[in-house]
Amino acid sequence: MRVLSGIQPSGSLHIGNYFAMMKPMIRYQETSDLFVFIVNYHAQTSVEDPRALARNTIQVAQDWLALGLDPERCTFYTQSDVPEVCELTWILCNVTPVGLLERAHSYKDKVARGLPANHGLFTYPVLMAADILLYQAHVVPVGKDQQQHLEITRDIAFKFNHKFGETFVVPEAEISEDVAVIPGIDGQKMSKSYDNTIDLFGDENEIRQKFMSIVTDSLPVEAPKDPEASVLFALYRPVSTKAEVEALADRFRAGGLRYGDLKVELFEKYWEYFAPFRAKRAEMAKNEDYVRQVLEQGAAKARAVAAPTLKLVRDRTGLNY
Ligand code: ADP
Ligand code: TRP
Repeated sequence: MRVLSGIQPSGSLHIGNYFAMMKPMIRYQETSDLFVFIVNYHAQTSVEDPRALARNTIQVAQDWLALGLDPERCTFYTQSDVPEVCELTWILCNVTPVGLLERAHSYKDKVARGLPANHGLFTYPVLMAADILLYQAHVVPVGKDQQQHLEITRDIAFKFNHKFGETFVVPEAEISEDVAVIPGIDGQKMSKSYDNTIDLFGDENEIRQKFMSIVTDSLPVEAPKDPEASVLFALYRPVSTKAEVEALADRFRAGGLRYGDLKVELFEKYWEYFAPFRAKRAEMAKNEDYVRQVLEQGAAKARAVAAPTLKLVRDRTGLNY
């Protein structure tokens, strides 16, 4: 079974990215034919500064490797190192109704937030479909916000297969429900675009400050509180055992919980959780050549898989004459 997913190098990675997407992906290297890639073409829809894009690409690669991705046991590459994906995007554009793209929430949200409504942003889901279909992936683990993009991919695959004959595997999205949406420090979905993230790697004081500024309600200390309504509780879950989560829920309901104390506890839990990864991340920062070499070898592996798909697509659509 081929499992594939990508992440944008549009800023520093955060704990939402890790628990919702990166951690489940890394586990797949034990059991599946795993493809992980850094979607720098997609990031061009929001990152204008060329140096920032290049820098972020390397840093995201360093993060993945530090978090345990093993390039020997997966195919790890940068999207633009396999430019065949752009050719497939064009071909898929011809079976993609404009209406399908006009309904994309992500496009509408991004335009509402002020990103320019250009053609790249509009075509984003077709490029994403090409990312997935080029490698004939079966399963695509993503956060809930990407569910509609996966539906669009499936639609495009069905349409192409129907028109030109069975060509693409129709992929399934995999959304892990228990960590479906990780809230940010303001209570909205944690996202690089909302300035509400807690970074995976960063300065200790800055990260502590982020934990201290997580939103809470203004109930008095003695009041019993609803754990399910709390951002602190939601962030406690991914780094705790079931028993710890239940014990914290009891502390909420009993009253007497001081949010300030819990914030300190939470910060310490996270700091400890990521300690081994931090050490590995520091090592990666010193080994940029190694990281570049990993990406180069990954791209060669990915290209070898992309080539037969693209040949088939060219045959089917009459480009090979
Ligand atoms: P961001 O919103 O921070 O820009 P991306 O769009 O690059 O994050 O997301 C990369 C992956 O991480 C996607 O699969 C996305 O669904 C997932 N993801 C990002 N933020 C969260 C979150 N707060 N909760 C759950 N999943 C998330
Ligand atoms: N759109 C995805 C995101 O913002 C990133 C992405 C691009 C992706 N291509 C992909 C995810 C292919 C999975 C498969 O998170």
